[in-house]
Amino acid sequence: MKLTIIGSGYVGLTTGACFAEIGHHVMCVDNNQKKIDSLLAGKIPIYEPGLEPIVRKNVVSKRLQFTTSTSQGVDHGEVIFIAVPTPPQDDGSVDLSFIEKVAREIAVCLDSYRVIVDKSTVPVKTGDRVSQTIRRYARPGVEFDVVSNPEFLREGSAVDDLMHPDRIVIGGNSDRALAVMQKVYEPFVAPVLITDINSAELIKHAANSFLALKISYINAISELCEIAGADVEKVAEGIGMDKRIGRSFLNAGLGYGGSCFPKDIAAFIAIADQLGKPFNLLKEVQNINARQFSRFLDSIREALWLFKEKKIAVWGLSFKPNTDDVRSSVAVNIVEALVKDGADVTVYDPKAMEKFKELPLAASVKLAESPLEAARGAEALIIATEWPEFAAIDLTELRDAMHTPLIFDGRNLLDPSAALAYGFQYRGIGRGTLPEAT
Ligand code: UGA
Repeated sequence: MKLTIIGSGYVGLTTGACFAEIGHHVMCVDNNQKKIDSLLAGKIPIYEPGLEPIVRKNVVSKRLQFTTSTSQGVDHGEVIFIAVPTPPQDDGSVDLSFIEKVAREIAVCLDSYRVIVDKSTVPVKTGDRVSQTIRRYARPGVEFDVVSNPEFLREGSAVDDLMHPDRIVIGGNSDRALAVMQKVYEPFVAPVLITDINSAELIKHAANSFLALKISYINAISELCEIAGADVEKVAEGIGMDKRIGRSFLNAGLGYGGSCFPKDIAAFIAIADQLGKPFNLLKEVQNINARQFSRFLDSIREALWLFKEKKIAVWGLSFKPNTDDVRSSVAVNIVEALVKDGADVTVYDPKAMEKFKELPLAASVKLAESPLEAARGAEALIIATEWPEFAAIDLTELRDAMHTPLIFDGRNLLDPSAALAYGFQYRGIGRGTLPEAT
């Protein structure tokens, strides 16, 4: 099928590349000429495992094309996916101006039936608005349908999530459009859930909020574990063995970050408020997430007394492993807090150094080329992102490199007993009272 994706950011590019890989003829549109030029040259602006080879391969086979022209895109695709950003506003509600603009742009180009699909994460009832907007700006009598088809891809495993999804959600109010959408997804082996548009839109926010709730739940338990002298890792294992609960998203740590959860939870709270039903449970999810961060900083402060002039190493800058994305990264927030209080910070991340360098904060820290270099002479080491490379570090070399063998493991990456055996003082999250190293 001929498909068009408007917006070639994380979601749009990965979706377009995977659709092409599965056999569709895809045109990706973006208004950023520089981005399109570099994509045409086979350069991917993000680090996402497995994405570059499929972009290259499908560009060569001409199943994946790029353009800056919306009219060319609308002309090409029988289905037009909207995958533009929906950033947060100051009050947490969603800025829908990109969606609205694209709806107008599509409308003026429409000359025959198209299915217009919203893939961006949007508040419930946005589909109605998109429909009204297109109707208002399109020439009279032109036919189209609007569909909601939320994405559930995770950064770091986006290609795999797209190629092998748990489910495909298609929300539409017209049989004609639903039939077209089923054809789009025919090559994928996954259950398809057909709903109305409002339900599909709500599924996306409800799913992300539930995952965030799981994280905050285990983080709240981690606090209890610290007071009671229990190990949150064991507790998570014990809870997660119940199939009704499951072990995933029960990793206690510094809390959730990234470009989705913080924004989507705030948006869902704002949506519920607008619907006249304040979602207090989600407000507590946010509170626990913020508290987890401040508790962690407090525990470092408690050990070091003051941050001023202390040499502190931070491992990890991306908001989670397997990505170079530093947007709303808790790791970056930690670096920021340390710098603000005068610490002498050295950072290292396996993939996110380049993206980090684009932040003004980068000018206030030292950038190391390896984890050991970052740790050299440090009075404390903070593990802020759970990259596998950090778990594999030689603890003898690490101890010898540091001024003081003190580790604050914000992601429970290391085995505390191993750290203690190698002479470290180790503080994880929710790991009870550990003996001091001798
Ligand atoms: C999330 C969802 O998992 C995807 O299903 C969704 O499609 C995507 O948002 C989106 O809306 O676009 P993503 O933000 O890439 O994906 O990353 P996650 O793997 O969900 O992690 C989010 C944050 O939660 C990270 O900061 C991670 O470190 C943290 N996390 C995750 C925990 O603290 N504990 C856990 O057990 C799991």
